[in-house]
Amino acid sequence: MSINPVFPPLRTERLLLRRLELTDVNAFLGYRNDPEVARFQSWDGMTGDEARAFIREQHTVMPGEPGRWAQYGIELVATGGLCGDVAIGLLPDGRQAELGFTLARAFQGQGIATEAVTTLLALAFGAWGLHRVSATTDCLNPGAIALLERLGFRREAHHVENIWFKGAWGSEYVYAVLARDWVSR
Ligand SMILES: CC(C)(COP(=O)(O)OP(=O)(O)OC[C@H]1O[C@@H](n2cnc3c(N)ncnc32)[C@H](O)[C@@H]1OP(=O)(O)O)[C@@H](O)C(=O)NCCC(=O)NCCS
Repeated sequence: MSINPVFPPLRTERLLLRRLELTDVNAFLGYRNDPEVARFQSWDGMTGDEARAFIREQHTVMPGEPGRWAQYGIELVATGGLCGDVAIGLLPDGRQAELGFTLARAFQGQGIATEAVTTLLALAFGAWGLHRVSATTDCLNPGAIALLERLGFRREAHHVENIWFKGAWGSEYVYAVLARDWVSR
């Protein structure tokens, strides 16, 4: 696996958004293995080996690369340590992207996800020049729905029982924001 060091960190008022490192493994496993946090995610937990492989794979990613997901670890500058992550995956066309976001339970309810995603969208619509960013969420996930609506995403689709998810049919919303909406907000 080739190591790509080009993963510029992003700084916000309270946060450092940066590449995941092997030293994050314990914190990463802590929230990835929390059933409450995993409830609406595609994953259901992770072993240490899987976490290390995931982080090593991220070291081959250059954010903004078409067809790949970049996972930014979220670090609270005041205290250090990983409190969650935000991910952005560019479609192969290089003009659109999808988002994912996760916070450890102890760090929810403080505006951290709002701050992190706002910064990522500024990069996506600014330096990367993307046209549209979307996110898909389970209709029963109030935290994700509130986050996307707070950020001005438009609900574009309501799929009904479109996914067999963790033992039952699930329904999903698709949210999106266009560059011109973001700039004029
Ligand atoms: C989705 C998720 C990241 C949202 O996290 P969150 O903590 O609700 O979102 P934020 O960090 O932006 O915090 C918003 C809350 O902090 C409050 N807040 C405090 N200071 C704030 C600030 N400066 N700016 C914005 N909100 C602030 C808001 O009022 C809001 O509170 P409320 O939840 O009582 O309405 C979180 O629920 C999560 O990790 N869930 C599990 C993983 C998951 O399902 N991911 C999505 C898969 S699609």
